[in-house]
Amino acid sequence: MSIVYDAAARTLTLNTRSSSYQMQIGPLGYLLHTYYGRRAEGDFGALHLPKDVGFSPNPHELAAGRGWSLDTMPQEFSGANAGDFRLHSLKAEREDGAWGADLRYVRHEILPGAYGLEGLPAALDPDGEAETLSVTLRDPALGLEVELLYGVYESRDLITRAARITNTGAGTLRLRKAASACLDLPFGDWDLIHFHGRHAMERQPERVPVLHGVQSIGSQRVESSHQHNPFVILCDRHATQDSGDCYGLMLVYSGSHLTQIERDQMDAVRVVTGIRDEDFTWTLGPGERFDTPQALLCFRHDGLNALSQHYHRFLREALCRSRFSRAPRPVLLNNWEATYFNFDREKILAIAKEAKELGAELFVLDDGWFGKRNDDRSSLGDWFVNEQKLAGGLEPLIRGVKDLGLQFGLWVEPEMVSEDSELYRAHPDWALTVPGRLPSLGRSQLALDLSRPEVSEWIYQTVAGLLRRYEIDYIKWDINRSLTDLYSPALPAGQQGELAHRCTLGIYRVLERLTAEFPQVLFEGCAGGGGRFDAGMLAYFPQIWCSDDTDPIERLTIQRGSSYGYPLSAMGAHVSASPNHQTGRRTPLDTRAVVAMAGGFGYELDPGKLSEEEKERIRAQIARFRRYADLLREGDYYRIGEEEDPADYAAWQVVSRERDESLLSLVLTHPSANPAPLHLRFRGLDPEARYTLRLELFDAYAPEAEIGEERVYTGSALLYAGFTFPRLFGDYPSAQIHLKKIAD
Ligand code: GLA
Repeated sequence: MSIVYDAAARTLTLNTRSSSYQMQIGPLGYLLHTYYGRRAEGDFGALHLPKDVGFSPNPHELAAGRGWSLDTMPQEFSGANAGDFRLHSLKAEREDGAWGADLRYVRHEILPGAYGLEGLPAALDPDGEAETLSVTLRDPALGLEVELLYGVYESRDLITRAARITNTGAGTLRLRKAASACLDLPFGDWDLIHFHGRHAMERQPERVPVLHGVQSIGSQRVESSHQHNPFVILCDRHATQDSGDCYGLMLVYSGSHLTQIERDQMDAVRVVTGIRDEDFTWTLGPGERFDTPQALLCFRHDGLNALSQHYHRFLREALCRSRFSRAPRPVLLNNWEATYFNFDREKILAIAKEAKELGAELFVLDDGWFGKRNDDRSSLGDWFVNEQKLAGGLEPLIRGVKDLGLQFGLWVEPEMVSEDSELYRAHPDWALTVPGRLPSLGRSQLALDLSRPEVSEWIYQTVAGLLRRYEIDYIKWDINRSLTDLYSPALPAGQQGELAHRCTLGIYRVLERLTAEFPQVLFEGCAGGGGRFDAGMLAYFPQIWCSDDTDPIERLTIQRGSSYGYPLSAMGAHVSASPNHQTGRRTPLDTRAVVAMAGGFGYELDPGKLSEEEKERIRAQIARFRRYADLLREGDYYRIGEEEDPADYAAWQVVSRERDESLLSLVLTHPSANPAPLHLRFRGLDPEARYTLRLELFDAYAPEAEIGEERVYTGSALLYAGFTFPRLFGDYPSAQIHLKKIAD
């Protein structure tokens, strides 16, 4: 049993293999959070001594004692306007304007399996080990009940959380805030690691101390955004990649989100995460309920790498519904950076033919194949073929690609509309616009109002129509602007605050249907690169295009940042041309491949422009990737070196779950004339085993290197003594070391 109720101590404890999480039904039925951390047994209620703190209010019933305040005791799901001035988790408003939340325990239930959420993606129970704890709290004055849901995955060290709010009163209730999770850490000195960025520079890791006051990470774009990913880590001030206490909070949500971290007057820390509450309201009639998105919580005592590995496995194995999540993915070639909008059937077929000769398995036709789309100013919404470019339609093109022995993939952006389109001319009111005001444009386009059932139905029918009509093996599903001008004529005046969340529910409704109906299609998400790179999307899409920046040196940070929460198998990563189209930087072809292998490996260049020698190298790269594909997809990923180190290199390692195979990759980012030896210690190996080590150096003049030579080392030597690299030389050289355990 991973969930234990101790009736005498009034505690509810959630145990995973390495962590324990405990709450206690405290005085007056307030649900206190007593502990989350390394696995431990017992009642942790005594950690939290009541204390008379001036200006921290006391519940009326306990006022004589004065020592007990909601404002200082750790809460499981904080209320509002009832004595706790710290971050609120729930705020509701009655018809007469009375507002807040004062939540007291009513009952709890322990159930087998995972719980589902209305209209939202939630973790599954792939191994039949999940257990669910439901704790119901009530605010009788406001007439509401909150069911706190906890999914416990013992062997995965993961706890899911969500809240289900029901209007139990006779009148209408307006939710003004409904968070997914609240986590109080009453003691400790914590750093916050979060992932900020911008278009073509997503998920840059930043580590800062948690200071007094409130820090906010969020998005108001109705997409999880390039700017702030809905994932944060709180770690011990001294935690490293390989040691120290770390907590992760990841939202399974793709819309406007908010995570706030507060260090309060008593130095305690509270994190509240969920739907962004500013501009949000939700109206509940009597008996109606609202489910919040799910949050995934993980605690590890042994550093950031272990935390990441647990998220990677969980997303791959317990969240993603796609059969491709754990299956080999085809090596693709995408024509975007090869042609942009400038192509016809002959050009595409010529590229596909070369792609096949290089060893690719899937050809992807990107933007520009529909309507009269010759640049990015028109035709979104007109998902029928551009006959000017592709005379005879898609059929002969697809037949040509298939005849080459390749799978066929297609780009779509169905949540959007161009003003210059037949769709917009027919349904101008489907685009988000505030009446009386010109809407703002993003990439010259408008966003469709996915809160309207007829719009999401149209999107579903349109894409399903393409998938039924054509032999399509892969879809790249893009969205290329943030949402603004939030107003829907389909919602009553008092419910406009629901629009952002309703749009997010709309896209989930579409994806739920499409991915269930077409399970044989590999879907890759995209949002101008990685603008919607989150666990909500990863429930449906096993991979997401990581960034529009394909420069491999820039990608080192983008992919390393992404790796804190998301598995390599989720990150679309391509080898593109040099000089790079976004930065102008020149990099060796093999370095581009080494970086793309730390992701969903593919190519995005014109193979017709390659020399014979480059083609030969690409064939070797694809063969190498195939050898390592299972290891890279399923293995445990380690970031080598600390973020704050001014390293001249980037290195990462993947180790198979059985510890019998490993691949370490390294890119030198700053060569120097007389470098100190580059020495690294491996991670994750079996110290008792012996390994064959094979070193591959790329694009480097390295006279000392014994490239390709195999040597034998013990696991303990590689783990504790390490390995010194032969000198790497030149612009951005790279290396890979493959280790294979020698059978006893
Ligand atoms: C977005 C994507 C790119 C490409 C273009 C096409 O920017 O991220 O990969 O598909 O759209 O317009």
